[in-house]
Amino acid sequence: MARGEEPMLTRRPSSHNDERATEEDALLTGQRPHRQPSASRWARYREIALFTWGLVATAAIIVLAVVYQHQTSEANPETHRERPNGKRNLVFMVSDGMGPASLALTRGFRQHVNELSWDDTLTLDKHFIGNSRTRSSNSLVTDSAAGATAFSCGHKSYNGAISVMPDHTPCGSVMEAAKRAGYTTGLVVTTRITDATPACFAAHVRTRAMEDQIADQLIGNGPLGRNVDLILGGGRCHFLPNTTVGGCRADGKDLIEKADEHGWNYIASREDFDGLDLGSSVKLPLLGLFAPTDIPFEIDRRHVNDQYPSLEEMAKTALRALSDATKDSDQGFFLMIEGSRIDHAGHNNDPAAQVHEVLAYDRAMQAVIDFLEDDDTEGLMVATSDHETGGLATARQLNVNYPEYLWYPGVLANATHSTEHTARLYFSHLSSPKHSGVDLRKYLTTLIDDNLGIKDVTREEIDHLIEHPVLSPWTIADIISKRSQTGWSTHGHTAVDVNIYSSDRHASKKLHGNHENTEVGEFLRWYLDVEGEVEEVTKELKDKLEISSGESWLGSIPSQEELAKVSSHLMSPQRGFD
Ligand SMILES: *[C@@H]1O[C@H](CO)[C@@H](O)[C@H](O)[C@H]1NC(C)=O
Ligand SMILES: *[C@@H]1O[C@H](CO)[C@@H](O)[C@H](O)[C@H]1NC(C)=O
Ligand SMILES: [Zn+2]
Repeated sequence: MARGEEPMLTRRPSSHNDERATEEDALLTGQRPHRQPSASRWARYREIALFTWGLVATAAIIVLAVVYQHQTSEANPETHRERPNGKRNLVFMVSDGMGPASLALTRGFRQHVNELSWDDTLTLDKHFIGNSRTRSSNSLVTDSAAGATAFSCGHKSYNGAISVMPDHTPCGSVMEAAKRAGYTTGLVVTTRITDATPACFAAHVRTRAMEDQIADQLIGNGPLGRNVDLILGGGRCHFLPNTTVGGCRADGKDLIEKADEHGWNYIASREDFDGLDLGSSVKLPLLGLFAPTDIPFEIDRRHVNDQYPSLEEMAKTALRALSDATKDSDQGFFLMIEGSRIDHAGHNNDPAAQVHEVLAYDRAMQAVIDFLEDDDTEGLMVATSDHETGGLATARQLNVNYPEYLWYPGVLANATHSTEHTARLYFSHLSSPKHSGVDLRKYLTTLIDDNLGIKDVTREEIDHLIEHPVLSPWTIADIISKRSQTGWSTHGHTAVDVNIYSSDRHASKKLHGNHENTEVGEFLRWYLDVEGEVEEVTKELKDKLEISSGESWLGSIPSQEELAKVSSHLMSPQRGFD
């Protein structure tokens, strides 16, 4: 300690109070102070009186402060808030397959590419509030169907379940309940709108493979009629009959025609989307299906921005449209926005596709937060993932030597396309009759350089691509993962806990800390105040199940083999990705 910086508690004789100084000196010297006894007594009384007064005054101030605090906390909803009383909007965001490692990967990538400082963070990072345990009713590792059923119904169910219980009976979803309570509702995704996550909010089937039936229920052909007012995403092929080019239904139903009968305004192109003026020219109900199956990965989509809208643009459009539509109503809106294909990048073990997917999701989240800040209606954004995908690790040991503490974002920055796109080019090259005359080795070297920005592809890697074309999506993913020192432990999902985010720490305080994924679902219905409606919807679904004869809208009870098949998003030359 420097001289002159003695602790404040060091007692020093005070020259301003002679009496006290004398006493302290006496204590130090051991000498009794000599003074007039009567003057000393009066001084002592005065001291006791002053001390007592000080004590009473302090106590009074403390009592007053506590009383005041108590009164303001009852009057002020900011400090004592339960769910809001009046009109409210809720935006639920899902980052499918995004675990905690995806954030370190994306943050590091963005800092590298934009030359930002080491403490620059994502929008996501700024809104972290807790995390979620994700297991399903029948597995420690969930799929997206059981994950989304936890959000929509607030119940654990089996992998493959679309808002049905472990006993295969339907459970009412928060979106159906919200619709019943007078909310306006929307779904925005980058995958097929018939895929597991969006399906769980407005459909009930016993396996996620029943995408044709899910499409039927989404447009209002299900037991409850129409529960969604706005749909933006991909998956057009499940709405088109088996007789049309571009249709992938097993039957001959034309759901686009049926949607028209239900009053839907249908759009299918970038041009139509631009006509919506980011939501200010929308007529609900709106059905926007911009791709036959999935919308391309963001890393590929940015090159064909004139064909497909981004997640951020779709989110902004939905927010504006739903907000305008509820301008004069007592109830607000409930919107689900999914960064659907973070999961697919994980399944493919494609780190470059992954960072662009997470960045696109991060931008969409910022758009939601900006909207909520500007909007007059009280609103909340809650976000989480259904599970992690890929067992991603932001470091990788490449040989027997002790590994470097490094990974290389620069390798990902040099990739211009996804490994899915690259493998697809290779597949179509192989199936084209022109390919036989071409030096395959040369073709592949150029392909890898053009799409992944990798110039040092090895002879072994090329040989592997030529000898096992079926495995090429994996081989190509490994070419970029190895060089960036990105690790993966699986092509499937993992059981790690995933993060929970919110636009308002206080309003979402029930979700602070570690939670079961079903508690996220419980929170959604609680915030919207539709718990009673969820019960009603569940009862109605069960009643309608009993009276429906012949083939049920819910589907038959699937076998274990059927369920095991349906959770994959793997790619093959024959099928492409699904
Ligand atoms: C198309 O669907 C109808 C049933 O709606 C079926 O009878 C027919 O066989 C299907 N055609 C093809 C080519 O799958
Ligand atoms: C990225 O590409 C540039 C230009 O080809 C090259 O100079 C650089 O070394 C590459 N970076 C990495 C990390 O591979
Ligand atoms: Zn998945």
